[in-house]
Amino acid sequence: MAEKQREHIPVLLKECLEFFSGRELKVFFEGTLGAGGHAKALLEAHPEIERYIGCDQDPEAIEIAREHLKPWKDKVEFVHANFADLDQVLKDKKITKVDGFFLTWEYRLCN
Ligand SMILES: C[S@@+](CC[C@H](N)C(=O)[O-])C[C@H]1O[C@@H](n2cnc3c(N)ncnc32)[C@H](O)[C@@H]1O
Repeated sequence: MAEKQREHIPVLLKECLEFFSGRELKVFFEGTLGAGGHAKALLEAHPEIERYIGCDQDPEAIEIAREHLKPWKDKVEFVHANFADLDQVLKDKKITKVDGFFLTWEYRLCN
């Protein structure tokens, strides 16, 4: 997966940025951090972000994202978890409210 993730182009990036445009994002949760492409774009577009909680179930993805998101290392908190455990993740971090939330989903057609 590592090579694929390194080259990964974030899907619907323009739409994602448009959706959050004009919104003040202080605390953000992303449940499918992957290589960190959406995170990088959101952090660039929203310098007001104070905490970006980047969650992924794949530890390898987290390490790749950690590398890509080095310029924001003081803002990004990497979490190795399933996003289904969102409640617990936020509870552990004493976060009661997020200003933005994002997940991507991929599906494959099989024949
Ligand atoms: C399409 S990539 C995410 C793309 C990412 N936003 C980017 O810009 O590179 C999908 C990622 O979601 C993660 N993932 C899939 N299901 C998950 C789940 N239930 N909980 C946490 N991570 C999950 C995968 O491990 C993979 O790294």
